[in-house]
Amino acid sequence: MTAPDTAVVVTGAASGIGWGIASLLLSRGTGVVAVDRNADRLAQLAREHDGRPLSTVEADLGSGAGCAAALAAIEATGRPISGLVNNAGIGTTSPYLESDYETARTAMAVNVLAGMELTRGLLPGMIARGGGSVVNISSIAAHLGGGIFGDTTYAASKGAVLSFTRGIAREFGPAGIRCNSVAPGAVITPMNEHLADQHGERVRGMVPLGRLGTVEDIAATVAFLLSDEAAYISGSTFTVDGGMSRP
Ligand SMILES: NC(=O)c1ccc[n+]([C@@H]2O[C@H](COP(=O)([O-])OP(=O)(O)OC[C@H]3O[C@@H](n4cnc5c(N)ncnc54)[C@H](O)[C@@H]3O)[C@@H](O)[C@H]2O)c1
Repeated sequence: MTAPDTAVVVTGAASGIGWGIASLLLSRGTGVVAVDRNADRLAQLAREHDGRPLSTVEADLGSGAGCAAALAAIEATGRPISGLVNNAGIGTTSPYLESDYETARTAMAVNVLAGMELTRGLLPGMIARGGGSVVNISSIAAHLGGGIFGDTTYAASKGAVLSFTRGIAREFGPAGIRCNSVAPGAVITPMNEHLADQHGERVRGMVPLGRLGTVEDIAATVAFLLSDEAAYISGSTFTVDGGMSRP
């Protein structure tokens, strides 16, 4: 599915895990369409991967209109899309009774609805070309109900990602679409580096493998799920957390 003339859409590719996923795919010769709201960082990604098959799309995925604009810009690249990584996300870290509707609405919009909209927009083309692979980035917070790196609202949004994944796998498996989730543990990125200063040592102590995760750890799993090596895997959640969420 990663033929040189096709591309994988990676959202949130201007930072952290998404940057790592885009970089790994590009280093392997896979075409990437990187989508993010951060134009400066997208430009930096393009500079670092000069000469590689990368297109960038600046879009704010926090609204239906923003997702529609992103889909139009992806189509305008003219690149056949064979894979989609719904990675763009925001963290929320409030005691639940101190959070509010607007915070929850924003988290749901970016963490859940954006992936649902991009999937809806890109599936018809993928199906017409014989199938493809969708990878949704969830979190171990979905299983743990939140914790140090995310609150109840964040956990709820990441749990919705898991159910969405199973729905797409069930509904579109017959059309050749595979859909899986990756649930990272504690990976230090710009999303949570302020918490890492506070809690990094304690979290490390909670990880059986004795270290925090890297963007490369997550990117390797995503690249596997996009590849034909994962041809019989769909509807699954891959937890990549050094054993942190296991008993
Ligand atoms: N870092 C971790 O420990 C961890 C753990 C579990 C899950 N995750 C998930 O991994 C994904 C990536 O997180 P990260 O740690 O790399 O975060 P990050 O903050 O480093 O990167 C997130 C990217 O998403 C983009 N983005 C956010 N809102 C957007 C919007 N409305 N429109 C377009 N782009 C938007 C940001 O600009 C940024 O480039 C997220 O879904 C996050 O929930 C992260």
